Amino acid sequence: MKCLITGASSGIGRDMAKYLAKLGHNVILVSSDMQKLDKVGREIEKSTTFQCDLRKEEDVDRLVELIKRERPKVVINNAGFGAFGFYDEIELDREMEMVSVNVIALHKITKACLEYMGEKEKNYILNVASSAGLMPGGPMMSTYYATKSYVKSYSLGIYKELKYLKRNISISVLCPGPVNTNFNKVAGGTFSVKALSSEYVAKYAIKKMFKEKMVIVPGLTMKLGVFFSRFTPTKLLLQILFKIQHKKNLI
Ligand SMILES: NC(=O)c1ccc[n+]([C@@H]2O[C@H](COP(=O)([O-])OP(=O)(O)OC[C@H]3O[C@@H](n4cnc5c(N)ncnc54)[C@H](OP(=O)(O)O)[C@@H]3O)[C@@H](O)[C@H]2O)c1
Repeated sequence: MKCLITGASSGIGRDMAKYLAKLGHNVILVSSDMQKLDKVGREIEKSTTFQCDLRKEEDVDRLVELIKRERPKVVINNAGFGAFGFYDEIELDREMEMVSVNVIALHKITKACLEYMGEKEKNYILNVASSAGLMPGGPMMSTYYATKSYVKSYSLGIYKELKYLKRNISISVLCPGPVNTNFNKVAGGTFSVKALSSEYVAKYAIKKMFKEKMVIVPGLTMKLGVFFSRFTPTKLLLQILFKIQHKKNLI
């Protein structure tokens, strides 16, 4: 089966690509960094690479054209990044780039997939959000949390529509807590809680995606956290989240 993964040059995306290849699938690896892509491509036998900076509209359009041409049966919208800090410490341009990669590119790619997918056999979309997307807001990571809420909300709405329309497409949303990847280096902070390995999260996510799970939350701690957050008043939850984020040592 042909699979396409954005953000396949490192972390969760790279490990999902490796696992899919191990299962015998062909993978198209997408990221903005050709050097990193080539390195990952050499490690994965049945892979091709596609350089694409998802901050740029013209690059997203090129990727959408590739998707329409290649018609991968599995598309994983994994590329994304965050930024730690108070709202006035993060540049507006950086926040807009985050919205472009985490939200706009993901939306355009999902929309393109929904056009051609599900004609004969089952096709799969996996949108990578975060446990952040299940929270009411994320003090000191406000834009990031907001982008991930969008990913969750958009994906779940589409999930219900696909069920109603009986389309042969499965859409899942992945909501991990902290995972050991390059994420912190890019975002400029550290985790104050224990992180899962990206290999574990990647394998877990792919297995659950093929089982057509709607919301995928890896790890017992995060499952419990998400469960109890449902019964916690919003102001209290924001206070807890602020404490967790504020404890992070800003680099
Ligand atoms: N790590 C965590 O704790 C955690 C928790 C919950 C959710 N997530 C989500 O998981 C996803 C993967 O992140 P990760 O943790 O694996 O971090 P990572 O190791 O930093 O990987 C991020 C990937 O996104 C790609 N990317 C970033 N900006 C891009 C751009 N402009 N154009 C194309 N690709 C771009 C990067 O590729 P290039 O730099 O090569 O372009 C890289 O392959 C993200 O959506 C993240 O929000 C992570």
